[in-house]
Amino acid sequence: MSVQFSAPLMDAKHFPPSLIKAQPAFSLAGSSLRRHPLPVNDISTFSRARYALAAAALYLKQSTQQNTVLLPAYHCPALVEPFIYAGYNIVFYPQLADLSTDLATFSHLLTSQVTHVVVVRYFGFSQNADDLIQQAFAANKRVIEDNAHSLVHFWQTCAATPTAISASVSSVAKTLGSADGGVLYLPGYNGSAQVAPDFITELKALRAGNRPVNSAADAGLRYFRAAMQTADCLRASRWLMLRSNYAAISKQRRDNYQYLAEQLKHSSAGRVLYPALTQHDVPYVLPFLLHDVNSFTRIRLQQIQVLRWEELATPATGIAGDYQQHLVQLPVHQALSKLQLRSIVKAVG
Ligand SMILES: Cc1ncc(COP(=O)(O)O)c(C=O)c1O
Repeated sequence: MSVQFSAPLMDAKHFPPSLIKAQPAFSLAGSSLRRHPLPVNDISTFSRARYALAAAALYLKQSTQQNTVLLPAYHCPALVEPFIYAGYNIVFYPQLADLSTDLATFSHLLTSQVTHVVVVRYFGFSQNADDLIQQAFAANKRVIEDNAHSLVHFWQTCAATPTAISASVSSVAKTLGSADGGVLYLPGYNGSAQVAPDFITELKALRAGNRPVNSAADAGLRYFRAAMQTADCLRASRWLMLRSNYAAISKQRRDNYQYLAEQLKHSSAGRVLYPALTQHDVPYVLPFLLHDVNSFTRIRLQQIQVLRWEELATPATGIAGDYQQHLVQLPVHQALSKLQLRSIVKAVG
C-alpha cells in the first residue's frame, strides 16, 4: 500500500512567532561536567529520531520476504516516512480515545504478513504499550519501541534490555534543550559509520537553536532526507544527553504538567486527555482535546507554540481523524516559568 499524507490544516507562516515554545531552547544549564552512569551499550546517535527509526528498519529487515510493519493510525509523518524509505509495506492499527489500542483488534492485525510492529509511548505516557509489545512479541514480530517523547523511558529500556523489544528510539531534542539528537538502542547494530558534523554546522546549529539541513526532502517524502541518514548528532547534543540532570528535568516537567492539568480542569475550551500522572510518566507535552477546532488558531495567535498532528496518512478515520483536528499539545517543558504557564492557561481559556 502506498501512503499518502493529508495536507497540513494550518501554515505556521500565518501566525506570529511563538514566544512560548514547545521545546526548551538550547542551554547547558542543569548539565554538569560529570557524566551520568547511563546504559550506553548498544546505542547509536543520529541527528533526529526519524533516522534512528530508519536505521532500525533497515537493520531489522528480513531478506527472505516482503516486510510489513504495523504502525499506529495516529502519528506524524516523521514516524511513518522512515519505513517508506526502508521499503516496507505499511498497515495502520487504530487507537482508542486514550490512545491505547484494543488488544483484540491489535491481535487480529498481527497476520503472517506482518513482520514488524512499532509501539509508541505517546507524549511520555505509556497507554497500554507494554501489553502491545508483549502481544506482538508473542506473535513472533520484531518490535520497535518509539520513545521519541520519552528519553527517560528510553534509558529504562536500555538498562532493562527486554527480550520483547528489538529496538528502541528517542528524540533527544524533545526532552533536552538540544539543537538536534536522535538515539537508537539496537543490540548488534554498529553505528560507527556515523559522520560527525563539522564545526561550522555545530556553530550554526547552536546559534539557530536548530540543526540546519541543506538537502531537500527525498522524492515523495515530506520530512525525511536520506542524506542525513548517516549524520551523527551534534557534540553539544551528546554532551547534554550524557550530562543532563534527568531527575531534575523530570520533576520540573511533572510539576508543570500537574499545574496546567489542575488549572485547565474546568476549562471551557476542552479537556485534559490525561488528568493525572502515574509515578512513571515524564510528560513531553500536555495533550488537550479541544471542543472547537478554531481554538487552535486562537491559542496560536497568542504566540504559544501549541502543536497538532495535522498530516496523517489518508484516509484518517476514527480517533486519528478526530484528533487530527482536536488534539493539541501544550508545552510543559522544564524551562517554562510560572508566568509562562499562567499565560498558557489564560490563552487556552
Ligand atoms: C512519535 C514520534 N516518533 C518519531 C518522531 C521523529 O522524531 P524526530 O523529530 O526526532 O525525527 C516524532 C516526532 O517528530 C514522533 O512524534
